[in-house]
Amino acid sequence: MIGKPISCKAMVARAAKQPLTLEIITVDPPKAGEVRVKVIANALCHTDVYTLDGHDPEGLFPCILGHEAGCVVESIGHGVQSVQVGDHVIPCYTPQCCEAQCIFCQSSKTNLCPKIRGTQGKGLMPDGTVRFHDKEGQPIYHFMGCSTMSEYSVIAEISCAKISVDAPLDRACLFGCGVSTGLGAVWNTCKVEVNSTVAVFGLGAVGLAVIQGAKMAGASRIIAVDTNAGKFEAATSIGATDTVDSSKLEKPVQQHIAGVLTKWGVDYSFDCTGNTDVMRAALECSHRGWGTSCVIGVAACGQEISTRPFQLVTGRCWKGTAFGGFKSRKDVPVLVQKNLDGELPIDHFVTHEFIGVNSTNDAIEALHGGGCLRAVVKY
Ligand SMILES: NC(=O)c1ccc[n+]([C@@H]2O[C@H](COP(=O)([O-])OP(=O)(O)OC[C@H]3O[C@@H](n4cnc5c(N)ncnc54)[C@H](O)[C@@H]3O)[C@@H](O)[C@H]2O)c1
Ligand SMILES: [Zn+2]
Ligand SMILES: [Zn+2]
Repeated sequence: MIGKPISCKAMVARAAKQPLTLEIITVDPPKAGEVRVKVIANALCHTDVYTLDGHDPEGLFPCILGHEAGCVVESIGHGVQSVQVGDHVIPCYTPQCCEAQCIFCQSSKTNLCPKIRGTQGKGLMPDGTVRFHDKEGQPIYHFMGCSTMSEYSVIAEISCAKISVDAPLDRACLFGCGVSTGLGAVWNTCKVEVNSTVAVFGLGAVGLAVIQGAKMAGASRIIAVDTNAGKFEAATSIGATDTVDSSKLEKPVQQHIAGVLTKWGVDYSFDCTGNTDVMRAALECSHRGWGTSCVIGVAACGQEISTRPFQLVTGRCWKGTAFGGFKSRKDVPVLVQKNLDGELPIDHFVTHEFIGVNSTNDAIEALHGGGCLRAVVKY
């Protein structure tokens, strides 16, 4: 099919708050600097659902959602050199252009390469057009530079992390978003040290990845907080030393952690809920003098965070992370290799599995249920 349009099945988000519709779409060949991929497996992430539920004011419809996937390169556009047909890749919504002029790619302090940010945010490929059309020939927008709820997609070369062909794509896909984000928040953004104390708010896939990363970093105490006690077993089995059901406390959770469970608070805390009150609690339960709190959760549109400035004056530091600070093309292959080497198990994140792109609505329903960490759809 190289150089020709492909007809395939995709789940199209026609409008906010509507189920996805199964459609036969056309996927154009990749242009210069682009890669067309066959999607093998896609895991659902809350950001897809957030957009589908209409909470993202910049969400564009119709679009093809999906951004946590494992793919095989089907064809490459002009000038593409870093991947070849048949390579296994993870599409990454945080690209890495690696250009000498890109001050973000050249800095070790950040992973936020802005090279294609303008068009990616508008649902377009870098040249300002789309590769997806419906059966009437009408354009369909891209999403987060990935759009993996389709049997085929086109992504920028700088968004492709090439991974080992030995890694099963229905597991490696998890490194495309939530799991990497939680691990990287601990290892890159906060650089948690041996013997640190940690508090994690929200025990979905991201929060559990924070716990796993903190345990691997040698944290001595990991306090896991959720309002759903059903989440505690998984948290404990992966390394949490204490669990707190914050809905059952008589006092604010920050006063329980800094005051009852610890004297001065924890060295590091992480918000993995997206709730701005929780973000405040996470900051305020961090240690006087040096505590660092990291915002991972994506808050609802228009929400703001607040605390008394005294919290910062007395030595607490408020941080945030996108994709765990990982430089996508360089770091995702290393994470996948660690998993293959048995150093970084991730199978426990997959609680639900489905077959066929057409079962994506069922996967979304599963994600809405409280017991789901990740639902993986194999195409
Ligand atoms: N920064 C990034 O790059 C990035 C990447 C991926 C995901 N995210 C965001 O991270 C967040 C977590 O993602 P997830 O997939 O793990 O979500 P999830 O919905 O599976 O998990 C959230 C957890 O928080 C718990 N919770 C809700 N309200 C709470 C409260 N008041 N106190 C304590 N716990 C509470 C829920 O019971 C649930 O267990 C989301 O906001 C997601 O959008 C951010
Ligand atoms: Zn995501
Ligand atoms: Zn760059």
